Amino acid sequence: MPATAIVGTQWGDEGKGKVVDFLARDADIVVRSQGGNNAGHTVAVDEEVFKLYHLPCGVLHPEKISIIGSGMAVNPVKLLEEIDGLDARGIKCANLVISHLTHLIMPYHMILDGLEEKRRTAGDARGQIGTTKRGIGPVFADKMARSGFRICDLADPETFRERVRYSCEEKNVLLTGLYGVEPVDADTIVDEYLAAGQRLLPYVGDAVNKLLQGLEDDKRVLFEGAQGTLLDIEYGLSYPFLTSAPPVTSGMCLGTGLAPNKIDRVYGVVKAYISRVGEGPFPSELLGDEATRLRDRGNEYGTATGRPRRVGWLDLVLLRYSATINGLTDIVLTKVDVLDEMPEIQVAVAYELDGKRVTSLPSDPVLLPELKPVYETLPGWLINTSDLTTGDLLPDPLQDYINFISGMVKVPISLLGVGTRRRQMVEL
Ligand code: GDP
Ligand code: IMO
Ligand code: MG
Repeated sequence: MPATAIVGTQWGDEGKGKVVDFLARDADIVVRSQGGNNAGHTVAVDEEVFKLYHLPCGVLHPEKISIIGSGMAVNPVKLLEEIDGLDARGIKCANLVISHLTHLIMPYHMILDGLEEKRRTAGDARGQIGTTKRGIGPVFADKMARSGFRICDLADPETFRERVRYSCEEKNVLLTGLYGVEPVDADTIVDEYLAAGQRLLPYVGDAVNKLLQGLEDDKRVLFEGAQGTLLDIEYGLSYPFLTSAPPVTSGMCLGTGLAPNKIDRVYGVVKAYISRVGEGPFPSELLGDEATRLRDRGNEYGTATGRPRRVGWLDLVLLRYSATINGLTDIVLTKVDVLDEMPEIQVAVAYELDGKRVTSLPSDPVLLPELKPVYETLPGWLINTSDLTTGDLLPDPLQDYINFISGMVKVPISLLGVGTRRRQMVEL
């Protein structure tokens, strides 16, 4: 495993954190490449539960190197809280490297994210996106507009202060004019960020070099995906109901400096059903009591925001798409145990569109809300899977479910998640 990627194949929250933690056993370096603290990754180690937002889950293996790649955006105050929170639990992030190119989420990014969400509800025909309000859209917009701040800018306090004042002039026109709220004070922001910077700068360095040098020295690298393919700004299909960064495999190269041909294995994390937080089309969505039962059994409440997640049946048309976009070599099927008590399990295998059956996505993604899923019903296994330790004892209906998915997607399933704990993973 010189470089292995772990990507979310659905709308996020597939259980990537737990999978990264499991595969990190065999890695020397764990890297996050994109997004920010809109992510929420959970790892349960025995009785202890860790929730990580910016930090790669590799930090739970303190001897490994953890990298925050240049494609990420960080909120320095919240990142410090995360590092301190782990420290208080006896976990030191001594081997953390933050790319000097990582962008800074500024306080006005979060404010603008929230205000724009409100404005969309009030008047915009497109309605709310349902963002996490962590400032993700505005920070990546500023990055592309070349008016953002990078963490290395904190090393030059005078220029930083000057540029933040300049930036706030523009943001305050928006805040007071368009949104009718109080302006932000540039100097207060600068003081807070420079103070955080003093503590963060020792972690800041040339992450690209660290990574490339690591590979040259035969270190094994694990890429921790955040969000999911169907939220990808380019390929997520349901624009504008997406995040502002690229969660797909190719985004990992962009966000770290790694060449595409260096990634030799791509694990796609697939929840045995599917969930979505926020707005946007969701063909196989369940509603009413059925949804409530699945949500409660799967504990489908957002890790970052606590919001109830929308839930539905596994959608193999979307999964096939995801497998292609990401170049999956393996599937990790998570939360299998959540379906243990279901007598029957539905899987979307095609869609109906204008009275016709289609088995691939229409080229115009605008049609996504129009698609009616065509389901195949498979028998449930009605056995408690949470104590399974090896793949040779799987109940027949579960083996059939696995074969059905891997047959349709043409990617082998090599790991199963059967519970929240670190050890509740079955190798096939
Ligand atoms: P991520 O964003 O992809 O890392 O996923 P989250 O941590 O946001 O959400 C996944 C949730 O499912 C967390 O509460 C995990 O503890 C939990 N989880 C992960 N894998 C499994 C599994 O195999 N079974 C069960 N029951 N829960 C799981
Ligand atoms: P992890 O890494 C699930 C969703 C938000 C919203 C949309 C845009 O835990 O899987 P943003 O704040 O990014 O501008 O919100 O994207 N979203 C996620 N949903 N898991 C995530 O991350 C998400 N990160 C963003 O709910 O619909
Ligand atoms: Mg999550």
